[in-house]
Amino acid sequence: MIVSLDEATEKLKRGEAVALPTETVYGLAAVINQESAVRSIFSIKERPFFDPLIVHISKLEQVHELTTGWGSLCQSLSQKFWPGPLTFVVPKTDQVSSLITSGLTTVGIRMPSHPLALEVLRRVGIPLAAPSANKFGKTSPTLASHVESEFLGEVPVLDGGPCAVGLESTVLWVSEEKKQIAVLRKGAVLLSQITETLSADKVPFTVVEMLDRKESPGHMKHHYMPAVPFVLVHGLRPIDFLDQLRSQIQKLPKEVEGVQIAQSQFQKVIQLDLSGDAALASREFYGKLREAVLKGADGIYFEVPKDWIHNEDFEALLERMHKAASLQFHF
Ligand code: TXA
Ligand code: MG
Repeated sequence: MIVSLDEATEKLKRGEAVALPTETVYGLAAVINQESAVRSIFSIKERPFFDPLIVHISKLEQVHELTTGWGSLCQSLSQKFWPGPLTFVVPKTDQVSSLITSGLTTVGIRMPSHPLALEVLRRVGIPLAAPSANKFGKTSPTLASHVESEFLGEVPVLDGGPCAVGLESTVLWVSEEKKQIAVLRKGAVLLSQITETLSADKVPFTVVEMLDRKESPGHMKHHYMPAVPFVLVHGLRPIDFLDQLRSQIQKLPKEVEGVQIAQSQFQKVIQLDLSGDAALASREFYGKLREAVLKGADGIYFEVPKDWIHNEDFEALLERMHKAASLQFHF
C-alpha cells in the first residue's frame, strides 16, 4: 500500500514498520526505541534474529547516541561519503538493543542520501532500523512496486522512485582503537576510495580481513535470490548448454542455510541483458531479475563479461551475482 510522507511519518512514530526509499535499495524501517516495532521487521521479512539490522540517521550528532567508537577514521570517512552508501560497524551504546545487533557489541550505522529518507528521519526524530525491504534471502527492491509485490501490498511503502545505486551499501567494520578497517560487504563506495580518503586526511590505518563469521554475520552463501534459478556463466557457452543446465539443476538442494532454492524445468530461460557500465549495471541488476520473472522466465542466466573480472568497479555486483546464483558454469 503506497502511503504519503505524512502517513509514513505517523506510522513510524506509532511503532509501525514502513518501507522507505534510499539511494541503495528500499528499506523496511522502524524506530529503534520500540522493541515491538523492531520485532515487526523480523516477522514481516521472515528474517532470522542472527542477522543484524543497520540503523539509519539524518544528523551526524546522532552517532554519539549509538556508538562509543567514533574517532578520526569514522570522522574522515563520514565527511567524505555521508550521506551515502557507506555503513560503519562500530561499538554500540546501551541505546541500541541487542535485538537490532543480534547480540553483537557492534552496530551498523548509515546516513542515507535519498532526500525522502532524510526527510522521514528528520520528521520522526529517532534513528530507524532498516534492512532491505524483501523477504529474507531474496532480491532487494529498487522500486516501490517491488516492495508491493514482495509483501502483497500489505506493507506501507513511501514511493521515492527508482534507487540510483541499486545495490546495498558498503559495510565497513572500523576499530578506532586498533586503527583497523575491514570491508564486510562490498558496495558502491570502493575500498580504494576509502583508503585514498584516509591517506589524504593523514589518518593512520591498516586494512584487515574479517573472516570470523561471528563478527560479520549475515554473510550466508546464498542471498539476493530471485524467485526462479539464476545461473552465472563464465567462458563460452557450448551448444548443449541448456541440456547441461537442466540436468545440473535437478541435483540442487531445496534449501541452503535456510534460504529456499527455486526449482525449475528450464522451459523458458531468459538471458539477462545488463549495461557494460558498472554503475548502470548495478542499478539495473535486481530490477531486471524481477522483470524476467514477470515475463514468465523459469530460469535466468547471465554471461559474465571478461572485462568485469579483476575490475574493482564490478566487485560489488559480482559478489551479489555469486550469492544470487543457484548454479555456476565454467566453460
Ligand atoms: O544499503 C543498505 O545497507 C540497505 C538500505 C536499506 O540501507 N540495508 C541493508 O540492510 O542492506 P540488510 O539488513 O539487508 O543488510 C544488513 C547487513 C547484515 O546482513 C550484516 O551483514 C551487516 O549489514 N551488519 C549490520 N550490522 C552489523 C554488525 N553489527 N556487525 C556486522 N555486520 C553487520
Ligand atoms: Mg538484505
